[in-house]
Amino acid sequence: MRDLLHATADHAADWLQSLGERAVRPDRTAPEQLALVRARGLPDGPQDPRAVIDELVADADGALLATGSPRFFGWVFGAALPASLAADWLASAWDQNAGLAAPAPAAPVFEEVAGGWLLDLLRLPADASFALVTGCQMAHVTALAAARHRVLADHGWDVGRDGLAGSPPVRVLAGEERHATLDRALHLLGIGGRAVEPLSTDDAGALRPDALASALTGARGPVIVCAQAGNVNTGAVDPLAAICDAAAEAGAWVHVDGAFGLWAAASADPERRALLAGAERAQSWATDAHKILNVPYDSGLAVVADREAHRAALAFDAGYVVGGGGDGPRDPIDYTPEFSRRARGIPVYAALRELGRSGVAELVDRFCSLAARFAAALDADPTAEVLAHGLNQTLVRFGGDDAVTDAVIDAVRRDGTAYMTATTWRGMRAMRISVCSWRTTAADVDRSVAALLGAARAAR
Ligand SMILES: Cc1ncc(COP(=O)(O)O)c(C=O)c1O
Repeated sequence: MRDLLHATADHAADWLQSLGERAVRPDRTAPEQLALVRARGLPDGPQDPRAVIDELVADADGALLATGSPRFFGWVFGAALPASLAADWLASAWDQNAGLAAPAPAAPVFEEVAGGWLLDLLRLPADASFALVTGCQMAHVTALAAARHRVLADHGWDVGRDGLAGSPPVRVLAGEERHATLDRALHLLGIGGRAVEPLSTDDAGALRPDALASALTGARGPVIVCAQAGNVNTGAVDPLAAICDAAAEAGAWVHVDGAFGLWAAASADPERRALLAGAERAQSWATDAHKILNVPYDSGLAVVADREAHRAALAFDAGYVVGGGGDGPRDPIDYTPEFSRRARGIPVYAALRELGRSGVAELVDRFCSLAARFAAALDADPTAEVLAHGLNQTLVRFGGDDAVTDAVIDAVRRDGTAYMTATTWRGMRAMRISVCSWRTTAADVDRSVAALLGAARAAR
């Protein structure tokens, strides 16, 4: 076992060491990779573990996307901090089932302590409850389950006991620029698309408070308002203070999708922090540790101000599962949608210990300033047009043309220098640049800008 793990660590280190210069994109297509791996076949009998690993590495090579590359700017994927990655390996080696504190306290205690630190760093209420889940998608499900419980309970309906059939209808008010994971969370919770009322947004994609105020006029039934801190294309943050004011007046629950944007609260820059003003007055929040915090996949965080609603929505009682209770750490199982679960608090804890308070702030601010560097450099060139820039996101278009923009994205990927993803913004094709890796430096931005502008000239 020891030899196997040392050899595996060498494989991993080889990969990590190659990130600085290797092509960011994979060499093989998905169908090519499928054919290759299928051809391996299920062996008739046991294989030597070392051979399994060596073969796995050989087969993966060429089909891996170098998301830890300093020039990976696709979607909003974070890289993995050294201590966090190493702690994640240990979490697998220790193989704890991190649901209950009493039988195996290590993982639930790291989780509980890290959760408290996260509330502090994100400037959320210290007495809020939280859940470490797989990502922002499941953080929405978790937080909105609590929201659903509370808004219906406030209208005399026990959704846990009676389900949704026959309940007062729940209205969901959300910006037309909301992330698609919110809709899926609502579907999973039995709140169909018809319940969602899309509200208009401003030029940057932030919800317009006047649209919310008018939708809330005369509202009497259960209402959940979904706000956003960090539009996936533009980085725009909704006006959270105004949203919370309007919702409070109407007795509505406010849920904030802050997958990456909530981290602006941890910035050392007061102006950046001010973008999040009012966020602390919402009732629930969803964010990720695998984006800005650079914890390896998968790691999301749901936070709920109303602990009772959170527990009521997710706690359960199974005769053979005995929790700790009393003064000890809480049982994570009562706050998460999973029963058995990975010890994902361990890499989160390690990331926070590695960075410390100032390191988290520096990471947030570095990502934002490198995204601003992209915006400034591209804006200065006539072939590029910066459509929006906010937080760690920059949205840009090339040659004033959809086809040229797509060609630039494709050319830079093929060349291997950098990796950006495409989007359609206000009917136009655009390139999204998301700075989210602790490895990225100003030199990586400059090298990527040169590649983009070179590709744009060639495409025109
Ligand atoms: C604003 C926003 N919300 C939700 C998500 C979904 O996050 P996850 O992939 O962690 O579920 C994303 C992902 O990029 C996002 O940008």
